[in-house]
Amino acid sequence: MRETSLSPDKFIYPLFVTFGSGVKKEIPSMPGCFQESVDEVIKSVKEVYSLGIPSILIFGIPEHKDEIGSSAYDEHGVVQNAIRAIKDAVPELFVTTDVCMCEYTNHGHCGIIKDGDVQNDPTLELLAKEAVSHAKAGADMVAPSDMMDGRVEAIRLALDEEGFSEIPIMSYAAKYASSFYGPFREAAESSPQFGDRRSYQMDPANRREALREIALDIEEGADIVMVKPALAYLDIISDIKDAFDIPVAAYNVSGEYSLVKAAGRLGWIDEKRVMMEILTSIKRAGADLILTYFAKEAAKILNK
Ligand code: PBG
Repeated sequence: MRETSLSPDKFIYPLFVTFGSGVKKEIPSMPGCFQESVDEVIKSVKEVYSLGIPSILIFGIPEHKDEIGSSAYDEHGVVQNAIRAIKDAVPELFVTTDVCMCEYTNHGHCGIIKDGDVQNDPTLELLAKEAVSHAKAGADMVAPSDMMDGRVEAIRLALDEEGFSEIPIMSYAAKYASSFYGPFREAAESSPQFGDRRSYQMDPANRREALREIALDIEEGADIVMVKPALAYLDIISDIKDAFDIPVAAYNVSGEYSLVKAAGRLGWIDEKRVMMEILTSIKRAGADLILTYFAKEAAKILNK
């Protein structure tokens, strides 16, 4: 009579692609996760796909960062190269890309800066360019994570105009200004060099605002909406699942992963059981899809 069950085909596995070749560098605060060059990523995605996980999310760590994040929309950027190589090696794998500026700007903010502030509207154009360049390289879906207002619409219009009307958008619609992203910023080398992200990400104390953010993104054309982080925001996932008839994704973020790994290493918790309990609770709250660094480990248990 179990009400909730997990399945690897509802997982999305995040990967960090870097430049060079033969690079596979473990992220210290995220044991089991790596920065990998394209050749290494190919090996990883083969394993991911063989475990029954149909989908990945790609983050890029570029060689070159500047004020306007120009590597983000470079036809030969790390992500663009990775998409082509992955699609070549494992064509059935569904490739989603993270669309944001913070990994590509030297200041580490998710948009371009003027007078010390992130500029919403000028950033939209760059995000749209980035999304189109991912689609041109062969991405199956784009996932804007920047939280600028109006980006879903800007990206939708740009994709349609360039002939990619079939490419869906998964929007990080309710994304909180969370300290659970700490390890990720080490992984993606994307920490803001000044200030924080509170002017564009949501206040963790707000519940009803999430519904407004989600409604706006759906209106602008989002096909899947995401809540992030997941574990400390199960109420938000549940609210959204109840209020909207649209697929809901939840991002079990880096800090949630690191906590479990660290306590597991210390022998303070049963890591595998805690992992499965967390993933089950995210599903139970209403997530149709779960983005998680645990995807491979959990799939191994589920496939037994
Ligand atoms: C980029 C982005 C972040 C994450 C996903 N996309 C970091 C941030 O907003 O600072 C976090 C993912 C994680 O912690 O696992 N904007």
